[in-house]
Amino acid sequence: MLQKPVGPDPAGADSPFASTTPPRFVGPKLPPMSSARTLVKDALHAAAAPADPILLQGWVRTRRDAKGFSFIELNDGSCLKGVQVIARDTLPNYAADIGRAQTGASVEVRGRLVPSQGQGQKWEVVAESFVIVGDTDATYPLQKKGHTLEFLREIAHLRPRSNLFGAVFRVRSRLAYAVHQFFQEKGFAYVHAPIITASDCEGAGELFRVTTLDPSHPPMTEAGDVDFRRDFFGKRAYLTVSGQLEAEVFACALSNVYTFGPTFRAENSNTSRHAAEFWMIEPEMAFCDLQGNMDLAEEFVKHLIRDAREHCAADLEFFGKFVDKDLLARLEFVLERPFQRCSYTDAIDIITQSGRKWEHPVIWGDNLQSEHERFLAEEHFKCPVTVFNYPRTLKPFYMRVNEDGKTVRAMDLLVPGIGEIIGGSQREERLDVLRENLAHHKLSEKDYWWYLDLRRHGTVPHAGFGLGFERMLMFVTGVGNIRDVIPFARTPGNAEF
Ligand code: 4AD
Ligand code: MG
Repeated sequence: MLQKPVGPDPAGADSPFASTTPPRFVGPKLPPMSSARTLVKDALHAAAAPADPILLQGWVRTRRDAKGFSFIELNDGSCLKGVQVIARDTLPNYAADIGRAQTGASVEVRGRLVPSQGQGQKWEVVAESFVIVGDTDATYPLQKKGHTLEFLREIAHLRPRSNLFGAVFRVRSRLAYAVHQFFQEKGFAYVHAPIITASDCEGAGELFRVTTLDPSHPPMTEAGDVDFRRDFFGKRAYLTVSGQLEAEVFACALSNVYTFGPTFRAENSNTSRHAAEFWMIEPEMAFCDLQGNMDLAEEFVKHLIRDAREHCAADLEFFGKFVDKDLLARLEFVLERPFQRCSYTDAIDIITQSGRKWEHPVIWGDNLQSEHERFLAEEHFKCPVTVFNYPRTLKPFYMRVNEDGKTVRAMDLLVPGIGEIIGGSQREERLDVLRENLAHHKLSEKDYWWYLDLRRHGTVPHAGFGLGFERMLMFVTGVGNIRDVIPFARTPGNAEF
């Protein structure tokens, strides 16, 4: 048990660190913050008006002055809509303060919820008091007018206060919850994969290095190379590109697991679908094959769409109106039908026999480009499609080799409008074949000794996939650029905020 210290309190009045003046709150005199705050979303959805006044806190979206009173639209981010507040000029501070209730100012309003006279809302609030908590001025960048997405990216610290980004980040939060709910209810264990790792899971060499060496004077080996043995971890270390290898360790112990965390790729591709930092969900299942993997991926994606429709209906409606007119119909369509499945070999036939002119013509053995992926999902199948059994040479070392020796049990889920949102595979569980694959990819067995060990001790068929969380959000919201579905985008040349 903790003992009360004997003697003078180390920070007490006789301490040399004691302050001579008591702490003083500087700023406007506010009523005490109350835990009885009502969120705007709860006020707007109230079944009946509460007998007592309610307390609302938020930011002014607009103010309109009329004779004898003002309308303030107050938004607190809890939902898309703001609540209309009526401030009468009989309020004692009306004359002094109403002019300060400018777009962007923070305010606290106490008042009664009354049936609204206006259209499109059930309730409004008649203020019995209002206090300006934080002032603003005409330089506030989010004045009531349309802004381009590019401009809003430059004010990433303020854009969550806009309708569009409020909606995006509410949906993002809800879907993060739905991810956990989906897997937890299926009995999957959540594994926290490390963010710093020594292995390049995808083998694509798109790694950010983690080092504490002084770049201008690194220690050198006798051969004249940088001596990473003297770096922090005693070897080269990187930010993770995938938690899969670690998830496999846990699947081979807890059976069904998933990771959900930040992932980093230094790929210098400035596209609307690539970020240097993104979030990935990676389930991994022991005693599971490619078929089971595809089934889970489809069920998972449909679960997230269904959840967003149920819990973020107003936000999705907003996207349907202002971002993508076809969004709601497309989501409905996707939920209603089974996803298509098509082997890579068949996909190549479909693409080459389509009679189209391609920017990148393909033959068997080539990577599918974005134009091909989108053609398959948007025009040929007109629906999400899982392409499976890719050429061995295109895919990483860990994928299970098929009987033909030429293809691996890989799968990519392609969706209309985006292309790939999921990549996954059945894993190579045979020690000898895995060693062969490592050699093929010029990877050292020494570096993957623990991964090989899983195949030496109680190996099992297992499979898993990675869903790019931002790509899923793009699909659900219709927002066309990955920079607009992540709070602070990290892309080549951009790490402001
Ligand atoms: O296809 P990928 O590279 O697969 C893996 O990393 C596997 N280890 C997953 C597994 O089997 N456990 O990446 C998976 C998904 C992609 O389908 C895509 O949705 C997303 O991650 N992704 C990116 N999202 C945004 N920006 C990037 N640079 C991305 N790279 C991949
Ligand atoms: Mg992929």
